[in-house]
Amino acid sequence: MIDLRGRTAIVTGGASNIGRGITLRLAEQGARVVILDRDLEQAEKTAADADGEVSAVAADLLDPGSLRTAVDGLASPVDILVNNAGWVHTVGFLEKDPAEVELEIRLNLLGPMLLTQLVVPGMVERGWGRVVSIASEAGRAGQRGQVAYSGAKGGILGMTRSLSHEVGRHGVTVNAVSPAMTVPESDGDIGTGSMQQSRDRPPEVMAKIVKLYPVGRVGHPRDIAAAVAFLCSEEAGFITGQTLPVNGGFVTT
Ligand SMILES: NC(=O)c1ccc[n+]([C@@H]2O[C@H](COP(=O)([O-])OP(=O)(O)OC[C@H]3O[C@@H](n4cnc5c(N)ncnc54)[C@H](O)[C@@H]3O)[C@@H](O)[C@H]2O)c1
Repeated sequence: MIDLRGRTAIVTGGASNIGRGITLRLAEQGARVVILDRDLEQAEKTAADADGEVSAVAADLLDPGSLRTAVDGLASPVDILVNNAGWVHTVGFLEKDPAEVELEIRLNLLGPMLLTQLVVPGMVERGWGRVVSIASEAGRAGQRGQVAYSGAKGGILGMTRSLSHEVGRHGVTVNAVSPAMTVPESDGDIGTGSMQQSRDRPPEVMAKIVKLYPVGRVGHPRDIAAAVAFLCSEEAGFITGQTLPVNGGFVTT
């Protein structure tokens, strides 16, 4: 049983999809969860659906000032940080607008890194903390059309490994969870529902993609959330600097 009672967790991008799954799961395990999301309306809906204590705060990973304001305004110190919010526009690198390259690096790497720097000192001071960042199999294995995004996610893995060396002695672990294609449960095991990257593909193409997954389906938020909840637990205190792929066997190295 994972017991997170008494812990305060931030989940960035906790309003929807994977972040929503993580929020609901951490709240179910007893954590007090604060969603930091730029979509406050959706974040409040998720907070209302949670079986536990969840609140929503508007913040933009692209605006470091808004992150500081959000963290400064919290009622309790942060024990758990889940760097989840991210975004990619899949398009060939040679055709990609440089402004979009910059955006993907800022949102997927710089923002999470600055937020981590804001909350980890408090964890170190109190002698306990968990940082879990949601990476991507694109960042580990490579993915056509996702060059800047993969670079940013690879950077997250570097941050995870290096920071773990600095804070481990203070009871703070730093890990990453690396999903492959993940669609909301409501989209079914093959996708083609609400999620852009599956919705854009006809069902026969999605069926071919699913064949690449040894478990016979793409991921769901609850799969990622289960891994995050475990890494946040007391029992996972000896795991740090690691990346846990949660990918249905899509990549096996
Ligand atoms: N879904 C997948 O197939 C998949 C695969 C591998 C990795 N990932 C990673 O998992 C994480 C979650 O992905 P998802 O598919 O659930 O994303 P999503 O687009 O469905 O949801 C992202 C959430 O983050 C919020 N957000 C976006 N930009 C923000 C910003 N600048 N500031 C604050 N909040 C912001 C959105 O409002 C939304 O609530 C991302 O880091 C993504 O790269 C997703």
